Amino acid sequence: LSATRYKEVNMAERSTDGAPPVMVIGGGSGIGRGVAETMLAAGERVVIVGRSEERLAKASTEIGGELATLAADITDETDVRALFERCGPLSHVLITAADIASYGPVSELDLKDASSAIDSKLLGAILIAKHAPPLIQEGGSITLTGGIAFERPAPGGSIVAAVNGALVGLCRALALELAPIRVNVLSPGWTTTPFWERMPPEQRDAMISDMVDRLPAGQIASPRDLGEAALFLTRARHVTGTVLEVNGGQHLA
Ligand SMILES: NC(=O)c1ccc[n+]([C@@H]2O[C@H](COP(=O)([O-])OP(=O)(O)OC[C@H]3O[C@@H](n4cnc5c(N)ncnc54)[C@H](OP(=O)(O)O)[C@@H]3O)[C@@H](O)[C@H]2O)c1
Repeated sequence: LSATRYKEVNMAERSTDGAPPVMVIGGGSGIGRGVAETMLAAGERVVIVGRSEERLAKASTEIGGELATLAADITDETDVRALFERCGPLSHVLITAADIASYGPVSELDLKDASSAIDSKLLGAILIAKHAPPLIQEGGSITLTGGIAFERPAPGGSIVAAVNGALVGLCRALALELAPIRVNVLSPGWTTTPFWERMPPEQRDAMISDMVDRLPAGQIASPRDLGEAALFLTRARHVTGTVLEVNGGQHLA
């Protein structure tokens, strides 16, 4: 773990007013960045976490506001323990981190790619659930990120479907075990993020255009759309152990 700008994270100890920061793990890009931006716009202070200090610094410069950064790999328990040892109190923890190398038929499964998806989304969430709770203040919550691959699976997406489904089980059990900390799953449909940039542009544009035609909402989500839903989950004091599907109707399409 290497910490950057930690002093800015630990604002709660220096400030007599205002809540402690919200932590967004995966906040350096994509949906996590949209969550961080939405939280800041709603008046929260935010710390974003990811592996790449460079990515975090770039996001911090571009987003601005009361944003701090901490680098950690959430698949590594030593890193996770150190992350929370260096943190002050937190209002909420949201995890959008994922390292999904590829999709494909299970007959061609590359175990390394499968492990990367399982470790970043599921093991990472378990490690956060193990180490974050003592720092989460009264009224706080943990939000995990699943995804449409569970609600509406497609051939080639079995590993991600399995991981997203496992996160729902994890959420429901943790909502009981960690109470009164609330635990929920945010489940996005297709959302415009850097994840899609790995695909050849023509293929990506054709897939997205086809999806827009099918979706009842008539558009693909932006990361800020997911941010609004994440903000709701942090503030909805009567919502725990549940899944919020934010997919424009993709589960029906
Ligand atoms: N985009 C979609 O269409 C879509 C659809 C359904 C579900 N989802 C789900 O939504 C979540 C976010 O997706 P996204 O598209 O926003 O992904 P993304 O743009 O690739 O962002 C993932 C972030 O996670 C961080 N990360 C990855 N592995 C990490 C680790 N081991 N420790 C700490 N940070 C790590 C990455 O930063 P570093 O590389 O610097 O660590 C990156 O900032 C994922 O769970 C994804 O499965 C996305």
